[in-house]
Amino acid sequence: MIKTTKPIVLALWGKGGAGKTTTGLALASLAAAAGRRAVVLDADPQRSSSAWYQSSQMPLFAVHSTEVTSVPSLIERAKLRYDMVIIDNPPARYSGTDRIAHIADISLIVARPNVFDLTLALEWVGIVRRNGADPLVALTAAPPQRQGMMAPAVKAARARLTKAGALVWSHQITQRQIHPELIARGLSIANLPEAALAHEDYKRLWVSLCRREENNG
Ligand SMILES: Nc1ncnc2c1ncn2[C@@H]1O[C@H](COP(=O)(O)OP(=O)(O)OP(=O)(O)O)[C@@H](O)[C@H]1O
Ligand SMILES: [Mg+2]
Repeated sequence: MIKTTKPIVLALWGKGGAGKTTTGLALASLAAAAGRRAVVLDADPQRSSSAWYQSSQMPLFAVHSTEVTSVPSLIERAKLRYDMVIIDNPPARYSGTDRIAHIADISLIVARPNVFDLTLALEWVGIVRRNGADPLVALTAAPPQRQGMMAPAVKAARARLTKAGALVWSHQITQRQIHPELIARGLSIANLPEAALAHEDYKRLWVSLCRREENNG
């Protein structure tokens, strides 16, 4: 296991059902596969990450459930043991949300390319920025590219986010049935071959986030 000098704290935000939990588990598994000690702090009362963990087969990383208000103190403790601390936040704003946005090294807002997700994503951009951080927005469960061309819904979503001043990830997490299937089977993205398209999507996101953190740090 590689113990990096500086642990990375990544917070996930977004509308209900946007893909926070799927993304958190995927990134934690890729972090673990890259030799980092990773933990997901499940701050969502729905406890989806924790339910996955209970059913998981040979998890490569840990999941701890927690109240939102306890996350800041837990982050400090987790940073002593883990290199990658991922916070799976609830879809709604709680007291404690601002503090998490302030502490996190990276805030990642996930949004499906539809009007409701995008509206909420922009609200999250505002919340994170008011807490002194600059979030990245990633489009998830997006329709696939055709012959290298972005789907119209993705193009429109990117245009709306960019026009509103949000920083948008240059690629997308494409909608693929393998994502719910993996979760249902207690598996994660790192269990897929690297050449699998679903793996490639998240690997690309993981690499972008690592680069961003290197440049910040
Ligand atoms: N890229 C994807 N392709 C296909 N399905 C996806 C993708 N990402 C997420 N999903 C599915 O969308 C649903 C919602 O995803 P997920 O639970 O990760 O969202 P969430 O933001 O954590 O939701 P909540 O706010 O309820 O916690 C799940 O059924 C999940 O399997
Ligand atoms: Mg969730």
